[in-house]
Amino acid sequence: MERRKFLSNTLLTSLGLSLLPSINNSDSFASTSRKPIVMSTWNHGLAANDAAWVVLSAGGRALDAVEQGVRVSEADPKVSSVGYGGAPDRDGNVTLDACIMDEEGNCGSVAFLEKIMHPISVARKVMEKTPYVMLTGDGALQFALANGFKEENLLTEEAKKAWLDWKKKQTELKIDKDHHDTIGMLAIDIKGNISGACTTSGLAYKMRGRVGDSPIIGAGLFLDNEVGGACATGKGEAVIKIAGSAMIVELMRNGKTPKEACKIAIERIAKKQKDCKDFQVGFLALNKSGEYGSYSLQKGFDYAVCFDKINKIYKSESFA
Ligand code: GLY
Repeated sequence: MERRKFLSNTLLTSLGLSLLPSINNSDSFASTSRKPIVMSTWNHGLAANDAAWVVLSAGGRALDAVEQGVRVSEADPKVSSVGYGGAPDRDGNVTLDACIMDEEGNCGSVAFLEKIMHPISVARKVMEKTPYVMLTGDGALQFALANGFKEENLLTEEAKKAWLDWKKKQTELKIDKDHHDTIGMLAIDIKGNISGACTTSGLAYKMRGRVGDSPIIGAGLFLDNEVGGACATGKGEAVIKIAGSAMIVELMRNGKTPKEACKIAIERIAKKQKDCKDFQVGFLALNKSGEYGSYSLQKGFDYAVCFDKINKIYKSESFA
């Protein structure tokens, strides 16, 4: 069933809205009011944006757009850092983290969730059906099953083979420009409301139980409908240590452009974290006017922006 949904999303992409990916170095786009608009991390953000655009272009809510958008990456076995096909932990278990936030500041999150293809939709249910923000591990799984989600094997043969190869060497795998992770997505709908989503399988071959920034509101994702939003990709520990996405939103509240705000957050990591040469972090930000920007620690961070039916890849500027 989920595979069929994935294939139909891919078909939609090829039939409808996606243009060939193109590279553009313009990193920030000023505008008076640019909506609807959606942006997301990495090249796989293109297909995710297409699915989000289907919702946005029909006048739908940004919250629905970001959920539908990142579900595409979650179901895509080729995306080795999110959902189905994601790299497992060092014991061979695929464990997933996700969060979602809407224009009213409602948010939901799941962490260390196993066997569920779409953690983002479980996070939305946590937001809408419980008085809590975050559920983890077995409790999150029980909640998902009680709400109609089905248990599935998320470890693909390809991911299993890569894990078994890694087990022979047991070398530490860094989140760098060659090991992409995490889809973060921000969208503004036709009413001008912003929402965001963030979902990942986290650091490949991590210690069992390790959780990164992606399910943590304020770290992997934050937004304020009066200001805009931000999301993160890369080494979660580095992002958590500076409350990255919350910092960027507050910088925008105080007048910084999205790109300036992302740059300041990256510079803070570079200043405070001595090992910053060894890992990657990338931030995206979108303000209420539809002005967007990004900045990353290392070269090689790309992101996708869809506006006015044009869905394109941009290269982020970087600190290094
Ligand atoms: N940014 C994803 C993680 O560190 O888990």
